[in-house]
Amino acid sequence: MRDLINYIVFGWYPYFCLTIFLLGSLVRFDREQYTWRSGSSQLLRRRQLMWGSNLFHVGVLIIFLGHFGGLLTPIWIFEALGISHSFKQGMAIGIGGVSGVFAFIGLTLLVHRRLFDARIRTTSSFGDIAILLILYVQLILGLSTIPVSLQHMDGHVMVKFMTWAQGILTLQPGVSALIADVPLIFKLHLFLGMTIFLLFPFTRLVHIWSAPVWYLGRQGYQVVRTRRARPHAVPAE
Ligand code: HEM
Repeated sequence: MRDLINYIVFGWYPYFCLTIFLLGSLVRFDREQYTWRSGSSQLLRRRQLMWGSNLFHVGVLIIFLGHFGGLLTPIWIFEALGISHSFKQGMAIGIGGVSGVFAFIGLTLLVHRRLFDARIRTTSSFGDIAILLILYVQLILGLSTIPVSLQHMDGHVMVKFMTWAQGILTLQPGVSALIADVPLIFKLHLFLGMTIFLLFPFTRLVHIWSAPVWYLGRQGYQVVRTRRARPHAVPAE
């Protein structure tokens, strides 16, 4: 029975979440791109928003890149580069831990602002508050894995996660068996992580797709006049 539950949660559920994530994002991108916005309140408690948002975004972006590269880079590449599993485990804990704390401070400010300012709370939807709290719980779960990871610095548990993530993306649901015996805190973190993918298209997280990546591949330059040289500026009336 335990094996079956493990297979469903870590072998099948990822595909369910990824399908909804991709299809849902596609539909929203196609039909409702102009419906994603900050949704409320940018003028209220500006300083708290600025600090909270900046700290959270810097932290979470580094975590995202770290997770992406760390989990999905084929293991042989690390071996070819001479990066040992224990060194990589140390990097995940060090870099992930510091950015996790940044993101945690930022998110604490954002959660506090949204929940304890009556005006902001009134203009927030259920979805706004729910996704913020889900991210908060996910961050706390992620940070709570660190003391556990410190007990196996040889990196063998981390290699299990890498093999699992890469196996799932190469359509091998059977890799779920590899993580059947990892500590519960990791399982909770993985489960909620997949659930965030599932909820993604239905929340304000879709704004991530608006990151100006198109800009990088743009042909040519945009000509912008400098402020200094304005010989023909029209005088103010
Ligand atoms: C599907 C999504 C996710 C997966 C599969 C995932 C997986 C993992 C794994 C396997 C670890 C342990 C790494 C190790 O010590 O070997 C970890 C750690 C961590 N995760 Fe996640 N995670 C996900 C999403 C998130 C999100 C959304 C956040 C932040 C909001 C987050 C924050 C953290 C933090 C702070 C750590 C501890 C530092 C580190 O090891 O990088 N994770 N995650």
